[in-house]
Amino acid sequence: MDMIEQCGLLNQHWYAAALTKELKVNKPFSCMIFELPLVLWKRSDGSVVAFLDRCTHRNAPLSYGKIQNDCLVCPYHGWTYNPAGECVQIPSEGNHKERIMNRQVESFPVRQQDDLLWVWMGRQTEPDHDPFSMPIIRKPGWRYYYMQTDFNNNVTNLVENFMDVPHTVFVHKGWFRDKKQLRVPMTVERTDNSVLVSYHQKSDSIGAFNWLVNPKKLPMIHTDKFYMPNNTRVDYIFGEEERGFVISSTCTPVKPDFTRVYTLIAYKFGMMNPLASLFLPPYTRKVIEQDVWIMDIQGQNLKKFPTPEFKSTPADTLHVYIESLRNWAASGGEGPKPNPIKKDGEFWI
Ligand code: FES
Ligand SMILES: [Fe+2]
Repeated sequence: MDMIEQCGLLNQHWYAAALTKELKVNKPFSCMIFELPLVLWKRSDGSVVAFLDRCTHRNAPLSYGKIQNDCLVCPYHGWTYNPAGECVQIPSEGNHKERIMNRQVESFPVRQQDDLLWVWMGRQTEPDHDPFSMPIIRKPGWRYYYMQTDFNNNVTNLVENFMDVPHTVFVHKGWFRDKKQLRVPMTVERTDNSVLVSYHQKSDSIGAFNWLVNPKKLPMIHTDKFYMPNNTRVDYIFGEEERGFVISSTCTPVKPDFTRVYTLIAYKFGMMNPLASLFLPPYTRKVIEQDVWIMDIQGQNLKKFPTPEFKSTPADTLHVYIESLRNWAASGGEGPKPNPIKKDGEFWI
C-alpha cells in the first residue's frame, strides 16, 4: 500500500471507481485505487458511500458483508457501520452502546457524475474541485457509450498513448489510420493543469473510415487535450459540428503498473448513427486491445530498465509536457511548477 503514500499531490483528485450501473442495490462493490482496497455501497436514497475495505475489528473485507438498514454489516462478527463509517453495533456487546465508541472505518467522499462513481482520494483533505467533466455531448444527434479496459502500465504512459498520433500508423495500421507521410503542423500548449494540442490539417488519413466519418470531405478540426492528473480528450469535428467523434478517457491507478481506464466514445454521424451504434463498439474494442498490447509490452520492458531514458522529437512535445506536470505533482509540488508555454511544431504520419 505504498502507492498512496508515495504519490505526492496526485491523490488530491477524484478518481473513477466504477460505472454507476455497476453498483447494485444491496450488493457491496469492491475496487482498488492507489493500492487501497475500497468498498462502495448504496444507501436506500440512492447515494453511494465508500469505505476502506477493512473491518476495524479483525480486518475482514467489508465488501463481503451485507447492507442492512442503511448500514454495512461485516461478514465475520457482524460489526455494523453507518454511512459516516461509525461503528453503531457490535453484536457480541449486546445493547451496550457505550462500549462501542470510537470505532470508525475510514470513509471517502463520493460523487455520481457523467454515469461514473468518483471517489476523492485526498484522504485527510476535503475536495476542492469537481470531478473531471466527461464530455457527454448532450446535443441532438450525438450518441455515446463507455468502455472499461484494464492496462498493465502506469497512468503517465497511458495518457500519453491516448494523445499520441504517430503510433496510430503502426499499432493501429489498417484499423484507424494508414501511413501516408502526411505533414502535420501542430501547436502544443502547457497550462498549469493541462496540455492542449491543435493539429492544423484540413483532412487526415483515417482512410479506412472516411466514408463513415466524413463522406462530404468537410474541413476537420482535430484537438487532443490532457487534463491533470489523468484525463484525456480527443476531438475530431467535421464542418460546423455537422459530424464528429470525441474520445475521452479517465485513468484510475489501481496499482503502480496496473490502470483501469473508462473511455467515453461520443459520436455524431448523421444518418449513419444507427449503423455506427452496431459497428463502433466492436471496432473501438479492437483498437483499444491494440493499445492494451503495446502498453503491456512497453510496461514489461520498463520494468527491465528501472532507469529508462527517453529520447524525444518534436512529435513528443506533449509527452514531455505531460510528464513535467505529473512529475511535479508526484514530487509533492517540490520546486517551481512547470511554466505555461506554447510551441509550434510539425511531424509526419
Ligand atoms: S472482522 Fe469484522 S466483525 Fe470481526
Ligand atoms: Fe492507440
